[in-house]
Amino acid sequence: MRIFASVSLAALALACFTATPQTSAAQQISPVAQTPPMGWNSWNYFFGKVTDKDIRDSADQIVSTGMKDAGYIYVNIDDTWEGKRDATGVLHTNEKFPDMKALADYVHSKGLKIGIYSGPGTKTCAGYPASLGHEEQDAQLYASWGIDYLKYDLCSFIPDVLEKQAPNDKAEQMRIMFAAYDKMSKALKATGRPIVFSLCQYGWDAPWEWAPALGGNLWRTTGDIDPHWDRIYAILSQQDGLAKYAGPGHWNDPDMLEVGNGKLSLAENRAHFSMWAMLAAPLLAGNDLPHMKPEIKAILTSSDVIAIDQDKLGKQGTRAYSDGEVEVWTRHLSGGALAVAVLDAGDARYSTHPFHLDLAKLGLHGPQKGKNLWTGEEVTLTPNMPIEIGSHDVLLVRITAPK
Ligand code: GLA
Repeated sequence: MRIFASVSLAALALACFTATPQTSAAQQISPVAQTPPMGWNSWNYFFGKVTDKDIRDSADQIVSTGMKDAGYIYVNIDDTWEGKRDATGVLHTNEKFPDMKALADYVHSKGLKIGIYSGPGTKTCAGYPASLGHEEQDAQLYASWGIDYLKYDLCSFIPDVLEKQAPNDKAEQMRIMFAAYDKMSKALKATGRPIVFSLCQYGWDAPWEWAPALGGNLWRTTGDIDPHWDRIYAILSQQDGLAKYAGPGHWNDPDMLEVGNGKLSLAENRAHFSMWAMLAAPLLAGNDLPHMKPEIKAILTSSDVIAIDQDKLGKQGTRAYSDGEVEVWTRHLSGGALAVAVLDAGDARYSTHPFHLDLAKLGLHGPQKGKNLWTGEEVTLTPNMPIEIGSHDVLLVRITAPK
């Protein structure tokens, strides 16, 4: 759904609101999300069942599995932590989270950061209280707990506010929605605490065009992910054309990782992780960490692949070309290096009719020396070389000095 089509959404967002509040607290806040945020989020595995204990166990596991050392820092509580507001409007946690401050202290004691979830409407997507009319109060509450990251999910704002206040007036609906995200953005900045601001609006209304102007550090580009190859590939396909909107401090978010969830094959887990790295996507694992299999840990902690995602240049990869069901994506990296991903998105193995890599279509000439990031082997890519890739698998190569 696109509420309002316009080429100048960013201009409208900027015209409606000043991009950066001029409070002294805001000026002191150190910048966040200079590389895509890395961590773990409770939703994709626990959904509405998540408890305080699950968060503590997950934080423990992030440390003991080496994920923390690999760069996973944010431990994010998604929906269903919320209780009721008291007479003064202060929101309390529900029985699953008896003491949020103590939980945040625990996560911090592990050298990790903690995230939380709300939305601009009256209710969250799971029907729990959200922040409408309590933005400053909630932001102050999060800061008092020591929260480092907020995912702010549109959900009930559509029926609660947009459809009530501006029925059939798309332009006005956009202004109201901008104001809602801007309000929370400023409320977070006013706390003086560096808090990553993650907009969740499912990619409706081209958030990449206006979310950065409203202080968004990342914004969802699509509806929800699920642990099926078709869904993962559909989301990947929707990222084409969005690369120019990403950069340090502001990232496209194709949703959290499903690596290790459902019945994804090892190849699918590897391809999913590789392509999210090519996209400079936030790497928020969403699996059952205490029961993580060694092969899943190996994927999530692959330092060579994480280095692609976290590359300082912050330039998102793009699809260079496709040939049948094989796609070739490239990503420019700092120091002039280039990542090349060859993805077999289809169901067939390219053995009898191997795929031939057209280096000229990547702007490359002659043999290219690189490293296969999943085997660790040195490889040389040559023009039109045949490549055999398993179904839903990927060849990921880092070329240090492309020519
Ligand atoms: C929406 C979001 C999900 C999750 C749920 C929680 O569906 O897109 O990522 O946060 O809400 O209710």
